[in-house]
Amino acid sequence: MHETNNGYNDIPNLDIFESSRDKRHLFTQNKILEIIVQEPSLKKTLNSIVIEIEKLLDNLRGSILLIDDTGKRLIHGAAPNLPKLYCDAINGMSIGDNAGSCGTAAYLKKTIIVEDIASNKLWKDFKKLALPHNLRSCWSIPIFDIDGKVLGTFALYYDKPNHPSEWDLKVMKSVAHLASLAIKKYNTQQLRNLRNKQQKIIENERKKIAREIHDELGHSLTAIKLELTSIEKSIVNAGQNMNAKIKLIYSHIEESLETVRRVSSELRPQVLDIMGFCNALQWQVDNFIDKTNISCRLRVSSEEIKLDPDLSIDLFRIFQEALTNISRHSMAKNVNVFFHETKTEYRLIIDDDGIGINSDKINDLKSLGLLGIRERVLIWKGHFSIKGTTGNGTQLLITIPKVVNE
Ligand SMILES: Nc1ncnc2c1ncn2[C@@H]1O[C@H](COP(=O)(O)OP(=O)(O)O)[C@@H](O)[C@H]1O
Ligand SMILES: [Mg+2]
Repeated sequence: MHETNNGYNDIPNLDIFESSRDKRHLFTQNKILEIIVQEPSLKKTLNSIVIEIEKLLDNLRGSILLIDDTGKRLIHGAAPNLPKLYCDAINGMSIGDNAGSCGTAAYLKKTIIVEDIASNKLWKDFKKLALPHNLRSCWSIPIFDIDGKVLGTFALYYDKPNHPSEWDLKVMKSVAHLASLAIKKYNTQQLRNLRNKQQKIIENERKKIAREIHDELGHSLTAIKLELTSIEKSIVNAGQNMNAKIKLIYSHIEESLETVRRVSSELRPQVLDIMGFCNALQWQVDNFIDKTNISCRLRVSSEEIKLDPDLSIDLFRIFQEALTNISRHSMAKNVNVFFHETKTEYRLIIDDDGIGINSDKINDLKSLGLLGIRERVLIWKGHFSIKGTTGNGTQLLITIPKVVNE
């Protein structure tokens, strides 16, 4: 057995082609990078990585295993040319210091080279699974994330006892690096999809609650008010005391109705569903002026702009966050808002003349409001920029393309 310390530092310098072998390696790496960028499915990406590497390295068969959520087991990732029976048998195996090449590589966080499975002690419990399939030699390298956490392993199998060349090790390290990128991209995408889904669920819930408060509670209160009016009329000579009580009940009902209107429209501005996006912007601007005494002017390129309902909710929430930030942080006196529709995109610009956002805040991971804006813009494959000039205000620019290419 031979072990080497890991680390991706010696990925080949891509500018220097020492030989046609290096050129082929570079070509393969580029092809894999393209697949990582274009292919949304992790499974297909990992399969393609293994296939490309098998084309590069003759007579070797590749396998990628992934660490499961517990961090203690390896599960099947991709092994298009290993026997299915073998893959099924090792799927879910525990990692450990005597767990074949991959289980040990993941456990010790080291490259493990087993030249002969038949005689190596690491394979004592596993050789009966491998040998019947003509798998005699297995070299495995851990796939690390950026923080050094093990994400899985990449392994190469040979049908005779064999030792890797320097070239094989070099290729293995580059594959582990590329596989790590693929897994990271996929995890980020999964997280984003999950957040989008949650956002939609929240919006739907808000809509439902807003409707129920508005319709049910609002109607009941109105009915109580009508009943009270009729009682008031039917009581002749009610007396001063009774009149004062009735007045009080009226004022409680009015207050409650006002709360119903406010809470339901804060949860989900009905104007957005009924009168469209531009009117909802104006409604929000009027509210903002009322609450803050900051002057705010809205211009739109046309009142008739029709948006996808999900997009209009996202843009509206972005707009609310931007105005809240202005009232909380900017000390601005004037705000200008432009909403434009061009042939190819929608543009929302929000300009204030306050203190100007500090550039540290723009990139701060704790700026959750700004992060939320970015996430919503990304869903629509749009662009978000925010710029501050000290003492000269902050400008937010959001563009959303009209055609979203999936
Ligand atoms: N219009 C603005 N003018 C000045 N500073 C701003 C403006 N908008 C945001 N900021 C700064 O950026 C920070 C991050 O904003 P945000 O992510 O919305 O978080 P939060 O509003 O919860 O503080 C704010 O704390 C504030 O310092
Ligand atoms: Mg905020």
